[in-house]
Amino acid sequence: MERILVIGSGGQLGSELTEALKEKWGTENVVASDINDPRPEQAKDTFIKLDVLDKEEIYAVIQEYKITQVYNLAAVLSAVGEKKPHFAWKLNMEGLFNVLEAAKDLKLNKVYWPSSIAVFGPTTPKKDVPQYTICNPTTVYGISKLAGEQWCDYYRSKWGVDVRSLRYPGLIGYKALPGGGTTDYAVDIYHKALEGQTYECFLSENTYLPMMYMPDAIRATLQLMDAPEEQLSVHTSYNLGALSFTPEEIAASIRKSIPDFKISYAPDFRQQIADSWPDSIDDSQAQQDWGWKPAYDLDGMTGDILKNLKALKEEGHFA
Ligand code: SER
Repeated sequence: MERILVIGSGGQLGSELTEALKEKWGTENVVASDINDPRPEQAKDTFIKLDVLDKEEIYAVIQEYKITQVYNLAAVLSAVGEKKPHFAWKLNMEGLFNVLEAAKDLKLNKVYWPSSIAVFGPTTPKKDVPQYTICNPTTVYGISKLAGEQWCDYYRSKWGVDVRSLRYPGLIGYKALPGGGTTDYAVDIYHKALEGQTYECFLSENTYLPMMYMPDAIRATLQLMDAPEEQLSVHTSYNLGALSFTPEEIAASIRKSIPDFKISYAPDFRQQIADSWPDSIDDSQAQQDWGWKPAYDLDGMTGDILKNLKALKEEGHFA
């Protein structure tokens, strides 16, 4: 039996991954932690207020709760990172070091740490980006993820730390709001559509980006963490693909259910970030090594989100 610590359990990914981990390992074996107060559904869990920059406290929690796996999801994303570059670097890198050091010193079984399509840059091929290619990120977030990937590989080869990682595309879920990313528009748009409002998009209509529906992202994460170590050939971070679409295409998909939905465009500084990222990802290594296969296409995702988000809004969530 594993005992899991999730750092950053209140975030867009953390909130859903924590629930999935509780289902898999049992609520009593999952410790949720975040720098902010617990989400309502996490109040009855073992929840600890924890700052990923507090190394001593991380060690203490791991020892007190006999933790065997840590999921470190605490990060400053791309858009906020450009506003606070030095803080983004500090939090993303020192947070990772604290967890990697703990894994080495306290002999954790496994660590999970997310990377991102932000490791790619303007001279990376745009379409079907291969696993090994030019990586020249232009955001602090991307630089921290690329450096972090190499550190994960280093801790594995030098000290045998079993750390696993995925390069997530933009993650789209309806249960929690994202914070500070460039792909956040693809979540906000559903909220505005259900509120009967015009959505003003901060990216231009033809901006292609790789994206993924949250249930696929959660499944990919659990699948990678379950895979036998000898099957894994990538020890930096796996390319992971699912969907690619533009704001105009997601708006068209929404219009299949909400015909009078309107979108307008007012690109801001995030356009430049989006333009530096690829359109689509070749994830054949993940398919080959641990059987990755996404389940949702754009219309499947849109239908599912509109149905479930509508119900949540009717219950008073996101009010
Ligand atoms: N979704 C992230 C962002 O937009 C990319 O990993 O920053």
